[in-house]
Amino acid sequence: MMFIKNYILRLKERMRYHEYLYHSLGSPIISDCRYDFLIEKLNYLKKKYKHLFAEEDFFVSSVGAPGIAGLKRYKHITPMLSLNHVFDTNSYLNFDRKIKRFLKEIRIAFCCELKIDGLALNLIYKKGILIRAMTRGDGIIGEDVTNNVRMISSIPNKLHGINVPRKLEVRGEIFMLKSNLMRLNSEAINNHTKIFSNTRNASSGLLRQKCSKTTIINNLTFCCYGYGYYPRYTNIFSHYHRLLQLHRWGLPISGYNSIFYSYSDVLHFFEKIKNVRQFLDFDIDGIVVKVDSVILQSKLGYMNTAPRWAIAIKFIDQEKISKILNVIYQVGRTGVITPVAIIDPVRISGVTIGKVSLYNFGEIKRLGVRIGDFIKVKRSGDVIPKIISVIGNCCSDDVSQIEFPRLCPVCKSVLKVDDEFVKVRCMQGLKCSGQLKRMLYYFCSKDGLNICGLGFKIISKLVDKNYIKNFSDFFSLTYKLLISLDDIGKKTAINIISAINRSRDITFSKFLCSLGICEVGFVKSKIIAQHFRSLDNLMNSTLQELCLLKGIGLSTAHHLFNFINKKVNREIIFSLSKNLNISLSYIRSDEIVRRSNLFFKKKVVISGSFNKFSRTKVIYWINKLEGRVMSNVSKNTDYIILGKNPGHKFVKSKEFNLKVILEQELLDTIKKFFEL
Ligand code: IVH
Repeated sequence: MMFIKNYILRLKERMRYHEYLYHSLGSPIISDCRYDFLIEKLNYLKKKYKHLFAEEDFFVSSVGAPGIAGLKRYKHITPMLSLNHVFDTNSYLNFDRKIKRFLKEIRIAFCCELKIDGLALNLIYKKGILIRAMTRGDGIIGEDVTNNVRMISSIPNKLHGINVPRKLEVRGEIFMLKSNLMRLNSEAINNHTKIFSNTRNASSGLLRQKCSKTTIINNLTFCCYGYGYYPRYTNIFSHYHRLLQLHRWGLPISGYNSIFYSYSDVLHFFEKIKNVRQFLDFDIDGIVVKVDSVILQSKLGYMNTAPRWAIAIKFIDQEKISKILNVIYQVGRTGVITPVAIIDPVRISGVTIGKVSLYNFGEIKRLGVRIGDFIKVKRSGDVIPKIISVIGNCCSDDVSQIEFPRLCPVCKSVLKVDDEFVKVRCMQGLKCSGQLKRMLYYFCSKDGLNICGLGFKIISKLVDKNYIKNFSDFFSLTYKLLISLDDIGKKTAINIISAINRSRDITFSKFLCSLGICEVGFVKSKIIAQHFRSLDNLMNSTLQELCLLKGIGLSTAHHLFNFINKKVNREIIFSLSKNLNISLSYIRSDEIVRRSNLFFKKKVVISGSFNKFSRTKVIYWINKLEGRVMSNVSKNTDYIILGKNPGHKFVKSKEFNLKVILEQELLDTIKKFFEL
């Protein structure tokens, strides 16, 4: 019963958190469907365990009835899908190649558009009259925002012109001009009302507001980029021309829409837009490229929730403005406490960011940042988001200083502060469940045993339930135990068990790295492994021997010596070595793994040079993996490995529509088989 009680409490907390994100921040991180699922679960539990709920516990949400934002929800006539995206030229070329290969055509018209950074809106017109406007929601069910949308002057309430269809479903982006945001915010400063962090959050806030005024809601603008239901009788089968027809009926479209027939023209358009982006009065986060022919679009169809006939090419290295809402503290695997800023969620390169690490207390001082301050956040490609500067907040009532924590956020022990007041540490070691979880997570991560599927959430649950107390407990996990945890299905459980089994083959240096010993990371693990060559030799080494190792400083030597000589750690290492097959360096001999490698019996050409390795090395790896490296491209070639400054082989490969493998993909494949 205790278990159920805790489970219900956590579920309620989770729901409250999502309500907060939706109501107060206007930035939900789960779909409405998922939210409904939570509600259903809670209602079911309430029926079954009445005595564990309070009278006022009341959970409602259903289609057609108000959702969590208090807006009615309806099903879209046709689902609102999302877009696949790429960040670089080569990935775009892969998209272009796949389309041409699938359609068996070389000359295809592409419609290129701006990717405006706002919110998707679905408009339904019947007999030319706007009868409903809905947000995207989860793509199937959207929220009804008709009342507000009717006040937006760029959206016609009545279509005009000839041949206005009986039924029409229009799709586009609703957004706020940067100049409107600036004006609204300066008014908000004077009136001491809410300041919006960015145009997207502002649009979301205004659009969902109940009882809005025309003057306020008219700060939103609409641009139409597509349609759901579109009548066939118009006999227009070009996407570009369908948009022009929508324009003739009174809907606003972008003046940047263009048709191109070659990938070089598409990429040229992308570069041009990248350069003019800063001068536009609205935010864009890339361009969208769509196969123009509606007939070819339907031949290409859809995959999961995105069309195969369209792709977004996004800008990387973006900065966005947001606001610090709160600061929380996290304990790391070595006990160091990291302050983390909870920010007004912003989307950068397609990812919603709600948390940014502040690294340490020195960084807080350096930035001079406070709760309530506006900040600039940056994220380059896949890199972790970072605060790059503090804008401040002119309203002093809205800011407060970031407090120095005294107790560990997890085990509540008193924290130790270093002399410079920069690093704060929990001294409880693995007795602190926060540290233990992080340590185990690191052990399973790519730097360690690389056990796919064992993420932080699952590890956390396993620790909370006492199923895992140290590293070697992972090897006693069973399928039955895993599926007994919430949120783990049969397939995930099978995948985790097979990932654990696969991880048993490990190199000595990776094993060392996985232990998470202070200062012993990837590079130093390699040096140590190469010197000692076996675990036994290392376990019997002396401090003096470790100190004399080239490339290992005195401090690392001490950390390592202390770690391997602690009784509890020796027991863990011993027990782990019984579960693992530790070798100095290996190529997996397992027949299935060998045959399933990307290069097995494949013909490959290499074009260009690489950042992280030489061409000779690449040839060596491919030969070892039983692939053949050819000097010229022919119709028999399977792949081209593309490096920097590729030459004529790359140009020729286009003729044969070869699969392109980039440096990172090559590296990821090779890493599975070789010690790099
Ligand atoms: S086409 C099935 N075109 O981007 C195709 N989307 O990441 C669906 N967006 O939810 C979308 N500008 O809100 C398309 N020119 C454009 C767009 C665009 C912005 C947004 C849209 C969508 C999101 C997908």
